[in-house]
Parts: sequence; C-alpha cells; structure tokens
Amino acid sequence: MCGIVGYIGQRDAFPIIINGLKRLEYRGYDSAGLALFDQELIYKKTKGKVADLEQLFKSVEDKKGQIGLGHTRWATHGEPNDINAHPHVSNSGNLVIVHNGIIENYEPIKQTLLNRGYQFNSDTDTEVLVNLIEDVMQKEQVGLGKAVQIALNEVVGAYAIVVFNRQKPDEIVMARLGSPLAIGIGKDEYFIASDATPFIEFTKNAMYLEDEQMAIIKKGKEPDIRNIKDDRKIVPYIQELQMSLDQIEKGGYEHFMLKEIYEQPDVIRDTMRGRVLPEQNLIKLSGIDNHLNKFLNADRMIMIGAGTSWHAGLVGEYLFEELARIPVEVEYSSEFRYRNPIIKENDIVIPISQSGETADTLAAIKLAKQKNAFIYAICNVVGSSIPRESDSGTYTHAGPEIGVASTKAFTTQVMVMAMMALKLAKEKGTISMSEYNMYLSELASMPEKIEKTLQTDLYIQQVAHHYKDATNALYLGRGFNFPVALEGALKLKEISYIHAEGYPAAEMKHGPIALIDENMPVFVIATKKGQYEKVISNIQEIKSRKGKIIAIVTEGDEQVKNLADHVIEIPETVEAFTPLLATIPLQLLSYYIAVYRGCNVDQPRNLAKSVTVE
Ligand code: F6R
Repeated sequence: MCGIVGYIGQRDAFPIIINGLKRLEYRGYDSAGLALFDQELIYKKTKGKVADLEQLFKSVEDKKGQIGLGHTRWATHGEPNDINAHPHVSNSGNLVIVHNGIIENYEPIKQTLLNRGYQFNSDTDTEVLVNLIEDVMQKEQVGLGKAVQIALNEVVGAYAIVVFNRQKPDEIVMARLGSPLAIGIGKDEYFIASDATPFIEFTKNAMYLEDEQMAIIKKGKEPDIRNIKDDRKIVPYIQELQMSLDQIEKGGYEHFMLKEIYEQPDVIRDTMRGRVLPEQNLIKLSGIDNHLNKFLNADRMIMIGAGTSWHAGLVGEYLFEELARIPVEVEYSSEFRYRNPIIKENDIVIPISQSGETADTLAAIKLAKQKNAFIYAICNVVGSSIPRESDSGTYTHAGPEIGVASTKAFTTQVMVMAMMALKLAKEKGTISMSEYNMYLSELASMPEKIEKTLQTDLYIQQVAHHYKDATNALYLGRGFNFPVALEGALKLKEISYIHAEGYPAAEMKHGPIALIDENMPVFVIATKKGQYEKVISNIQEIKSRKGKIIAIVTEGDEQVKNLADHVIEIPETVEAFTPLLATIPLQLLSYYIAVYRGCNVDQPRNLAKSVTVE
C-alpha cells in the first residue's frame, strides 16, 4: 500500500514523478504529495488523487528540480487529509521523506522527541521517523545515510522509505523492510519506485532492495547498498526488466479491469507457453521437475493466500485432491501466520499471490520456513518478495494487473494449479493415460473457450443493467464452482459496493435462504458437469421463494433456461476446468454493474492493490 517514486539525475523530476505516481495509484489513492528541490525545497500535498496533486503545481517555477520524490497514500496512521499526506518534512525543514508501511513503536519515539522539543503537525508515524533521523544526524554528527541506518535500527515495523536532505541535494537514501522498493538504473540517473512501472520507458536495468537493506544513491556513482543491521556492503544484482510500456497502458479500453478481463485468453496462453505440450504428452514445469521427489512424497499441501488468491487456492484444493490425490488445506495467510500451524516434513506450503508483496502472505512464508517447510510460490510479479522468499515456484505470467479488482491473476493462478495437478497426476499414476491425454488437450483448448465466453459480453451488459440497483446478491456454486461463487461475490462487493455473499449451493438452506425474496438476485453456477441435478433442485428452491435467478450454464442447456430469469452460456468443459470459464461472466457482470452505478471501477474506495501492511 502506498506508492513511492523518486528521481535523481539530469532530467526534470516533476513529469517522471507525477506520471510514475499515476501508475502506482493502484497501491493507494486517498492522498498524494510531491517534493522537488532546485534552489529551494518545494513540496505540495493534498487529499485526493494524483490528478488533484498535479493541479497544485501550476507554474514552471513550481516544477523545477532534478531531484524529487512523490507519494500516493493508503492511510494507515491518521485520516486521509492534506496534513497527513506525504512527503513529511523534518522540523528544521532540511529532510524530506516518503514512507510506505507502519512504524509500530512510533508513540514512544514521538514522546521522546516531544520531550526534546520537536513539534509534530500530522498524526503520522512517518513524521516521527523523519524527525528521528534528523535527531540522530544532530546528536551523532553523522550524514543522512548513517542517520537513516541508526534510526531504522531503533524502529519496529515495516517500511520502504526514500529521503533526501535539501542541504545536500546530490544524494537520496532509501531503505526497505517488508515494503518493496525498486531502483531503475539509467546513465547518470536513478529512478526509485515501489515497482518498476514508473521508469519502464527510461531504463530496463533495475535492482530490487531486499528486506533490511538500504541504499545511498548519488548522481554518477554506483549505488552504495548496505545491510541496515550490520552495515555489511552488498553487491547489487542488476536485472533486465521484461515489462513493456503498452502492458501498463489501457490500450483503448475504458478501464484497466475490462482490459484485463479481455486479456485472459492471451495471458492464459502465456501461462501455458512452453509448459503445456500436448503433442509430446507433456507438462513441463521446471519448479516441479527440480523437486519431483518432494512432490511425489508430499503428504499434504497447504495453500496460503488472501482475497482472490485464497479463492484460487480453494480451486487448487479441488484440483490437487481430484487429480493427484494429494490432501490439501487452504488457509488465509493472516490466520496461518498467527496460529501455531503443524507442519510436517513431507508437507509443501504453497503461497499464492498476484503482487508477491502481500504482508500477511510474506509473514506466513517466513513462519513456514522457520518450521522447515518447503515453499513453492505461485506468483505473478517476477522478482517480487514472495518468490524471492520461496524455495521454488511457478510464475503465472499474467502481465501487470493494474485494476484493483483481481481478474486475470485469478484465472492464471488456477491455470498454474491445473497444470501442476495434472502433471503430478501423471507422475503418480492417479489417473489413466487416456484421462491424462483428455485433460491435457482440454487444458490446451482453454484460451479459445475463454474467447468464446467473452462473446457473452453484450448480453451480460443487459443483465447487469437489470440488476444494477440491487442492494444484496447471493452467489451459489457446488464443488469446483463453490470458490467461483465466492470470487463472484467478492468481485461484486469490492467494485460496486453491493453486499454479496458466496455460498456452496446446498448450504443455502442452512441460513441464507431466509434472505431470498423478489428483490434478491441469485447468481448460480449450474454447469452440466458436476452436481447438475442437485444445483437444479437449489434453483427450484430459490424460484419458489421468488428470488431472481441468473444462471451460468453449459452451452445448449435447456433445463435451467426454463427456470432461470437469465442464463449466460459458457462452452462445455470438464468439471475440473469449469472455474476457468465460469469466472469470466461473473467478472463482466460485476464490471458492468459497477460502471452503471457510476463507481470508480479501477480504484474502488478504501482498497489498494498491494496490501503491504497487515
Ligand atoms: C480482490 C483482490 C484482493 C487480492 C488480495 C491478495 O480482487 O485483488 O483480494 O486478491 O489482496 O493479493 P495478492 O494476490 O497480491 O497477494
């Protein structure tokens, strides 16, 4: 949460930082701020979006400076307002800082600083930190880099910080613990950001700070990277970015979410590329091949994740148990990390994450590692913290997901688990060769089937218009489609603010049925494969209570058509792969309902894309 951009070099910093902040707005968007130094320090900040901030920089004079930093905020300490927005400036007016994270022990530090005469304008932990750094500089008579290091050894919490001193405007200092920071390396210039998107058009050379590392960056010099705790010097590992500019632009779509829904056939192809090889009867996953014995001897898999990624884990449970006969447990990482989970020698822990930065999932991995678990990550963002902390894994290759509501990340995560489960099923002999071949060719056909599913778009717009004023909604599915129901409900509530619940269809009778009346839309996944007849009975129960039924059915279905108010057809597939198709109409329904309600689809209220605080 919170996006950070910094620049030091020969160019004007303002356009780089403001455009960078727009790209990072998915990380938080309740307030924004930007500081530049030319002859003097100029900083402005405001409640609201980066576009509101841009308006504040009116004159050419305002925008001058070849060093600067900016921030887009998702509030943790202190309400979103102008004063609490970053950057924060130290009491002397010399140091300026932006921060992503939480300083947990800021209260006692603030008290000590108050006793020493410091004053505070905001309610933030960040203003405490910048003054602590200043205090260390003065007390210890050290430069900014050393002071940052000493101060950070006093704080407890999580942070990515970027700070500079207006009296020494040729250097920027940054540090990380728990929140990401990337450094783009140009010719005599450096770009700093929470991820690489703000500098992709300027340089492909980047490095990522690891936890407990800090960097001192000066124009024209190699970055000085150190371990915060013991001052050990670290040799930078510079990597070439694979991302391109058009991947992070809207490409003619009105919203990133719609673009990302429509990208699914292509990104699913990317997920399978070089891995699903039907002509060789093969699924190649180097992560599994390199640790095959671990997987073949696994007594259990424990999937951990949050939100949509947790839903993908639930689909994974059905896939691994059905195909490879490996017992699976699925846990919210936020729960897992604070239990004392029992992890045995032959367990495999599988974190699932789009961003690779979710704080709870990272902490859960660290706990599992302490218990000697083997960690196999399923992640989208290459080089992010979760894969770096894991022993092995598979990237989903969904490309940058910018809409806050996760769409293509989910289907690609499910695709990775389908590949893994099928590969292991073959290795373990838990399915016959003819079943394996059938599943493999079905998997290979998924991109075309998703393309076909997307053709329901126009009809879905009509359905969405019909239900745009609903205040509640129920989503029902059974078996593999129960997690799809959960995901459908999450998508609707997060972007349209309609209250929605997902349930296993048969559970409806145990409570939620009391809610059903003529105003309640009930979205039911009623595809032919699976417990079709049972779901039809559930539909009858809804109908006799006058609920409105919107059913996702298999192409050509007649039975449900006669019962439901609206039916949306998806191509036929095996039950195990239905989630890859049934999810798509639910994504589109949520999208259009939110658009008709005038909601900010890509940046729903109170949310942030990457939850780097617990
Ligand atoms: C929902 C959504 C969130 C994320 C969750 C986990 O649309 O985007 O629920 O799925 O915050 O994030 P990652 O996958 O980045 O760990």
